[in-house]
Amino acid sequence: MSRRYLFVLGSARSDGNTELLARRAAEHLPGDVEQQWISLAEHPLPDFADLRHDSDHVRPAEGNVALLLDATLAATDIVIASPLYWYSVSAHTKRYLDHWSGWLRVPGLDFKKAMAGRTLWGVTALAHQEQEVAEPLVGTLNNSAAYMGMRFGGVLLGNGSKPGDVLRDTEALDRARTFFGREAPLARFPYETALV
Ligand SMILES: Cc1cc2nc3c(=O)[nH]c(=O)nc-3n(C[C@H](O)[C@H](O)[C@H](O)COP(=O)(O)O)c2cc1C
Repeated sequence: MSRRYLFVLGSARSDGNTELLARRAAEHLPGDVEQQWISLAEHPLPDFADLRHDSDHVRPAEGNVALLLDATLAATDIVIASPLYWYSVSAHTKRYLDHWSGWLRVPGLDFKKAMAGRTLWGVTALAHQEQEVAEPLVGTLNNSAAYMGMRFGGVLLGNGSKPGDVLRDTEALDRARTFFGREAPLARFPYETALV
């Protein structure tokens, strides 16, 4: 199956460090890999309404929810490009992931089965120098991939505060070169890894 990468941009501004780093990494994808880039700030999703136990969620037919759902289903690889906000993913990104919970309940969609075996990746920029403060974001993405039966390629981290700062993080730019070439094993919850 040919690869198709969906880059979901979760920053509350355009051309920020997260997007810059993601674009650097994407430059090293093979030429036959398709890329789709969607900014959640430019395509805002409505707040997620939890109807899971009241009625069926229906498949969205139009608007940004339909755009994101169709793009998600069309992708072999989903790249969550979210800045680190309060040590986790941005609100735009979280709302996108919350909508996955609705898509899991759309009759006939079989969203979980469709996503199983696909690959989730993360790219994030953070102002903090010590990267371990991003662990909540890494855990969110790893555990979400594990829940969905997806592969997880890990998170590419870069340092920066104002737009463009990340381009001075030479270690991050080095990691970007090979990031999408790395192994992406099936994601496991931490308690599963601990048993191995
Ligand atoms: C709402 C908000 C929350 C933030 N929280 C954190 C944080 O928890 N840790 C951190 O290191 N930087 C934090 N930052 C700084 C951003 O991660 C940093 O500016 C980053 O470059 C933003 O990414 P962007 O340029 O892609 O928008 C925060 C910034 C904002 C606007």
